[in-house]
Amino acid sequence: MTGKNREAAHKAGSTDAEAILERLAARHSCRVFDGRPMDQETIRRIVLDGTQAPSSCNQQQWHFIVITDREALRKARDIAGGNPHFSECGALIYLTFQKGWAHRNYSVVQSVGAAGYHMLLSTHLRGYSGIWNAGVGDHSQLREMLGIPEIFEILGALAIGRAAETAPAMKAPRRPDETIMSFERFERPAPTIYPVKPAESYPADRIANHDNPFAEWNPSAWTWEQLADFRGYSVWAKSPTPGVFVSARHGEATAREMEVLGPVAPGEKVAEIMPWGGTTTVELLRHLPMDAQLNVVELSDNNLSFIRERLRREGLERSSTSFLRADRGRLPFPDASLAIVYFPQSLEQVPDLSGVLDEAHRVLKTGGRLLAGTRNMTSRYGRQWRDDESRGQVPLQGPFTPLPARTVRSAIADRFEITDEAGIGLAQGYDADLSRGAWRHRRRIYVIKARRR
Ligand SMILES: Cc1cc2nc3c(=O)[nH]c(=O)nc-3n(C[C@H](O)[C@H](O)[C@H](O)COP(=O)(O)O)c2cc1C
Repeated sequence: MTGKNREAAHKAGSTDAEAILERLAARHSCRVFDGRPMDQETIRRIVLDGTQAPSSCNQQQWHFIVITDREALRKARDIAGGNPHFSECGALIYLTFQKGWAHRNYSVVQSVGAAGYHMLLSTHLRGYSGIWNAGVGDHSQLREMLGIPEIFEILGALAIGRAAETAPAMKAPRRPDETIMSFERFERPAPTIYPVKPAESYPADRIANHDNPFAEWNPSAWTWEQLADFRGYSVWAKSPTPGVFVSARHGEATAREMEVLGPVAPGEKVAEIMPWGGTTTVELLRHLPMDAQLNVVELSDNNLSFIRERLRREGLERSSTSFLRADRGRLPFPDASLAIVYFPQSLEQVPDLSGVLDEAHRVLKTGGRLLAGTRNMTSRYGRQWRDDESRGQVPLQGPFTPLPARTVRSAIADRFEITDEAGIGLAQGYDADLSRGAWRHRRRIYVIKARRR
């Protein structure tokens, strides 16, 4: 290619440039690898491609540690905890930087970020798949395993390799352009700026995941639109791989809630309200007869497409399942049309508890059942939430505040006839022991079943 031709081919908007950009835009994270090793020379070239990225003052204060040994990959997975794909990828590339230079505006972090993304693009163009992981686990264990000196900071790791055939091939949705960019001055639609505690300023260095003094956990301080926006994008942080979002805290709790629900007759019309990532939808579908008509209701279409794909991956795709969006908390059903309305620990996530219960009452038929499990403020877990959990950032599912069991009970008793009550879990997390005894109002999750008169 002559110099002139090359220039023409690289001109913005040329067919070549568009084709390359389109290929780059098709990159998406892979969390299920096939376990095959990768050739060392290819890995080396991917890392070197990454070093073509700009760096603050050209200092290139980065260091990349590549792991390919299967035993070491398994150990890396165990240290990471939440990223099971580490053991099956072809290589893990740890991203580290030398501390002491270019910290202003996190310049050194920005530089490693640029190199990491360049490596992901190179991985993709070379026909492999990859994923960025900040969740690498305990840094001191990693330092010991990899011999990383204290003066180097660990930022994360890229997992690269061949995607398994079972890996979801979906790309997480991108926000519309008008919500993430503006010309000449800052402009952004209100639903995409989330509530925080009022303050004069929000110094970034005072905000950490586990310690965020500005986090607003009260869902009543959020609008329905803000909740829909926040929950709808963050759900994709883990892709619709089967088995994701099986929260240790919820544990077997949903199965116990299904026991309280009891048998469901064939053909009954059921609505599940705000299941976010669909973990409870999976349990619910396993409980329902094949021909029950399940309506999954969420605030954003993004959650619905996520749950739909998740169910497909879990082998639970059924033609009788519908996916519906609730606009500002209004349930998308005619009056008196449903047999069961289920709130899977979602009543504590809504901005308007009374309005939502009125809606449940409106859409249930006479004799229809309401089932709700709610995280209980009057429990050991409630205390732990107040003292610890709520000091951190709002979770991906959105803000919530556990409700006292008696508050839920009386709000439901105002509208329905209560037919069963139970408490799940004695400890602040994990166990799912169910009790209908005197302590039911003191357990981690309060479950209530009621009938529409
Ligand atoms: C800095 C950073 C850290 C991330 N950490 C993790 C992680 O620990 N585990 C994980 O499964 N995904 C992780 N991701 C992947 C994101 O969830 C993913 O990029 C996002 O959902 C967009 O999807 P896409 O990469 O398919 O476009 C991380 C991504 C970035 C940029």
